[in-house]
Amino acid sequence: MKVAVIGLGFVGLTLSSVLASKGITTIGIDSDRKKCSKIAKGIPTFFETNLEKILKKALREKLIITNKLSSINNCDFVFITVGTPQKKNGEIDLSFLKSVVSSVGKLISKSKKKPIILVKSTVIPGTMKNVVLPILERNSKKKAGKDFGLISNPEFLQESHAIQDTIKPHAVILGGYRTKFMKKAEKFFSRFNPNVPIIITNHQTAEMIKYANNSFLATKISFINQLANICQGIPDTNIDDVAHTIGLDPRIGNLFLNAGPGYGGSCLPKDIKAIINLSSKIGVKPTLFNAVEKTNKQQINNLIELIKQNIGKIKRKKLTVLGIAFKPGTDDIRDSVGIELVTRLLKLGAKVTVHDPKALENTRKIFCDKIRYVKSIPSALKDCQCAIIMAEWKEYEKINNKTIKHMAKKIIIDSRRILYNKNLDAKYFAIGLGQKT
Ligand SMILES: NC(=O)c1ccc[n+]([C@@H]2O[C@H](COP(=O)([O-])OP(=O)(O)OC[C@H]3O[C@@H](n4cnc5c(N)ncnc54)[C@H](O)[C@@H]3O)[C@@H](O)[C@H]2O)c1
Repeated sequence: MKVAVIGLGFVGLTLSSVLASKGITTIGIDSDRKKCSKIAKGIPTFFETNLEKILKKALREKLIITNKLSSINNCDFVFITVGTPQKKNGEIDLSFLKSVVSSVGKLISKSKKKPIILVKSTVIPGTMKNVVLPILERNSKKKAGKDFGLISNPEFLQESHAIQDTIKPHAVILGGYRTKFMKKAEKFFSRFNPNVPIIITNHQTAEMIKYANNSFLATKISFINQLANICQGIPDTNIDDVAHTIGLDPRIGNLFLNAGPGYGGSCLPKDIKAIINLSSKIGVKPTLFNAVEKTNKQQINNLIELIKQNIGKIKRKKLTVLGIAFKPGTDDIRDSVGIELVTRLLKLGAKVTVHDPKALENTRKIFCDKIRYVKSIPSALKDCQCAIIMAEWKEYEKINNKTIKHMAKKIIIDSRRILYNKNLDAKYFAIGLGQKT
């Protein structure tokens, strides 16, 4: 069996590495030549725990990297994992997907093989039926369900857990028609992800499941953030105790209840905007999702207010931001709240220093020489007048009085409450904690 993966970003590179490391001959394809040559040398283009090790193993065994789309010929399964970024109006941009699908259509027109094409990219319900399928059939002059298979296979991996999530996702969703291709795909996944529930449904429902998933997660985060803001106004209240306890109720569950500066990353903000856009288009007022988004946007304003309340004017103040990646365990800064915070602090005239265990190089690409990038935590804190903790990297849990010794003013604003019990010799303020009485 031979599998192709088109688009070697977070989803595609992880998938192709895991497939090949499990002994499946895999062709990883990306249009970006530089990316391909790096990956072919065993160097991942982003940080993900264990990815380098698994990629190297895959390359030694069954993974071939190329920028030639024609390599999909002779493949049984073709996964499409290109980006579907957000347009200014909240819609998703299908240009990468359309371009790949057009070429794949032309390539299968000449092939005797009857491949199964699986779209992992996140797409709005209706995209497979109204966009992808017609392009494929037109360009291939072949019929889906007879000459090739077409399956919606939304991806649920979380960056920082990408390998485990690819090996053992919570579910495999297969959307499309119940043809022989669907049966073949079901068999493939029951071997690739043993003991994982496989849900077979139609294209639109599969597409909707992905948005339902992410909009629910975003709702949970905005819910806990709003509660955190209320806690902050009630002396001695602690949002983490509230979150932990409600999380014990199985109807609620304990994940995605970590209050903070708001959700970011390449998925939640984009997916919530896309569902708001879709909902409005079909005449359903997205009242809840609008509130989720508004609450999320408000969170960074609340954080800046907290900074101002405790240091006064921000202009010319030396501020250190700890944790720029959109979450710990990744160097991904796409739609990161840390980036938003630095942007806002610079606009307010602050002198900003940043620290992040993995994301400094990516951050440098955005701010160039407008800020300082420091690799050690004590050096990043030296002479600063306030430190703001954004992403809850384990490294920050080790901060102690020695680490903060050379801060010019010992003020810490902790959006994740990781230093709450440290009794630091500093003024300490956190999202979600009422004032101590
Ligand atoms: N990143 C995540 O955590 C995550 C999780 C679940 C779902 N998704 C969804 O999966 C999709 C991919 O996300 P990602 O984060 O991996 O994106 P990404 O931007 O990291 O990677 C996309 C890759 O596709 C390549 N590409 C673009 N056009 C191409 C073409 N014509 N031919 C070959 N390669 C091409 C790009 O060079 C890039 O390497 C998106 O729809 C996203 O919403 C992402």
